[in-house]
Amino acid sequence: MTPQEATARIATLIEEINEHAYRYHVLDDPAISDAAYDQLMRDLEDLETRFPDLASDDSPTRRVGGPILDSFKEYRHPTPMLSLQNAFSEEEFFEFDRRIRQKLDFSSAVVYMAEPKLDGVALELVYAAGTLETAATRGDGTTGENVSANARTIRSVPLKLRSPATGSIPERLAIRGEVIILKEDFEKLNRRQEEAGEKAFANPRNAAAGSLRQLDSRITAGRPLSACMYATGLDVPGIETQEKLLALLKNLGFSTNPLARKCTGADEVLAAYHDLLDRRFDLPYEVDGLVVKVDSYDLQKQLGEISRSPRWAIAYKFPAVQETTEVMDITIQVGRTGALTPVARLSPVRVGGVEVSRATLHNQDEIERKDVRMGDTVFIQRAGDVIPEVVSVVLEKRTDAAHRFVFPKNCPVCGGLVVRPEGEAAHRCTNMNCPAQLQARIRHFAQRTAMDIEGLGDKLVAQLVERELVKDVADLYHLDHPTLAGLERMADKSAGNLIEAFERSKTRELSRFVYALGIRHVGEHIAVLLVRAFGSLEKIQTASQDDLEAVAGIGPEVAASVRDFFGEKKNLEVIARMHQAGVKPRPPEPEEIETSEKPLSGKNVVLTGKLTSMPRSKAQALIKRMGGKVTSSISKKTGLVIAGDNPGSKLEKAKKLGVRVIDENEFLSLSAD
Ligand code: IVH
Repeated sequence: MTPQEATARIATLIEEINEHAYRYHVLDDPAISDAAYDQLMRDLEDLETRFPDLASDDSPTRRVGGPILDSFKEYRHPTPMLSLQNAFSEEEFFEFDRRIRQKLDFSSAVVYMAEPKLDGVALELVYAAGTLETAATRGDGTTGENVSANARTIRSVPLKLRSPATGSIPERLAIRGEVIILKEDFEKLNRRQEEAGEKAFANPRNAAAGSLRQLDSRITAGRPLSACMYATGLDVPGIETQEKLLALLKNLGFSTNPLARKCTGADEVLAAYHDLLDRRFDLPYEVDGLVVKVDSYDLQKQLGEISRSPRWAIAYKFPAVQETTEVMDITIQVGRTGALTPVARLSPVRVGGVEVSRATLHNQDEIERKDVRMGDTVFIQRAGDVIPEVVSVVLEKRTDAAHRFVFPKNCPVCGGLVVRPEGEAAHRCTNMNCPAQLQARIRHFAQRTAMDIEGLGDKLVAQLVERELVKDVADLYHLDHPTLAGLERMADKSAGNLIEAFERSKTRELSRFVYALGIRHVGEHIAVLLVRAFGSLEKIQTASQDDLEAVAGIGPEVAASVRDFFGEKKNLEVIARMHQAGVKPRPPEPEEIETSEKPLSGKNVVLTGKLTSMPRSKAQALIKRMGGKVTSSISKKTGLVIAGDNPGSKLEKAKKLGVRVIDENEFLSLSAD
């Protein structure tokens, strides 16, 4: 065969193989047998071995993985990858729909796309001129890990896009979706793992996430991953609805979910939800709810987002899955505030695809109310991502051997006195220096959603605390290489990696830092609200109770807790020592501030004419409180004009420039949000 002939044959083979792969993965309608497909692949491999110069990077034979990496490179998403708010009941879902209609001032039904919520791990695929350029994990939403080599091994990830039937391939695409493992593939994978003497995976999601984050892409290539795409990170010309996007994705060669349904109004969504719920266990993949999205991109933009979740979408979750199992023992866990939480140690059982061996019993009152005893058979449930909990006892199964749990008088970790403060449900260890509290505080600080200090696992934290190398979180940043390398299970390399992880954590987003501090009642969401409202740590630190309570979403209890935390000298010292060590959290990006909750954020607003319901000064104050800036003259930079009675020439000018104009009533309803 001449090189010319080989070139032509290779091109034909690639085209044929890609077509068959498309029919198989996307259309779910294969035209040839697996054996015939494998033969085509072998023919192609043969030719590429004989003519190595003709082997291209986009060849389907290249899905076998490549060299081993030291670490993943960071990848900044072209636009943030958001997460979703959850609805756990019909009421919560209807509330979502009501909010949307109110915001949009809609009296009629909203058109939604309702899509199965796949239980996998999010992936972004970036294409330049139709060729896969980068694949990245979600990471913290802003920056993920570049897992291109791994993603290229996934058969349903197109290396090159197909030309759509109409239109052309957009120049630059950032397509998002979910990497999953089919239930059937998961069972096979686990059998294989066990045969090879490896640990079985707890559930398909963990297996998918672990497989996607292998430094050796050959391992990934051996895992049965599938990718199903459902979103875009960049505007796509000519695509104005989610429905159109899904159709385009399918045309371009991506695998999309065939069960996505267009629904008009909340009732239709509800029907779709129940249909899917009924089929849930018959589906070939795990689904944990329905993602409901406003179909129109224009309306999505109008709705915007709040603390990293879009207002235009929600995850309407399926009910928690319940199982029964036996309580082997009840033990006590000491949290970072010293609260003692009783935990039921269970005979391991799978609940909703996850193996569960412990469940929280919350506190003494709960144990008594549910009358849970050691040796009992109990119902446990996993609600979404929260810790599994004991729901109730199966009394018919209680034997004489079942015995009650006695709450300890002393902390099981440090022996400190345990008290139950008046009016509180929790027992607390009163020893401020209890190592269990310190360990929990450090684990909280280092966790993925906080400072994300990779490699600082529970065992290491325990060692650092036991050896008194770390007495507060600031001490972490003063640990040196020899000290770390001298710890159990640590070597030169892992110590180096850890030091690097500490370094990387120094510039985490400010909201994560605020969350990491472990202020009571300040979860991830509240931390974001604080940072958005005040912009810097100094300002949060010095904010008064009133300033804090003025922030939407922050009540008196949270505000008092923030005040208490920063009123404590010891806490300020710890923060100062972190600053000295170079911890410099990143303040929010301007675009994050813009998307804040306030309806006029970042907008220049001009008032013209006379308002009837309030004096001008009050309107100006209101605009400011809504995040807007009051300006007097109309220009291209004007974002909104509020026109009262007898508006005059400004109104004319605004109209000429195409600036949005609203009347007093609209202004009032906007401010009521
Ligand atoms: S849309 C801003 N659609 O659920 C909208 N997400 O809890 C972002 N997920 O991070 C996501 N199926 O990993 C969307 N059909 C679907 C989905 C889906 C699963 C995951 C996704 C996301 C998470 C949010």
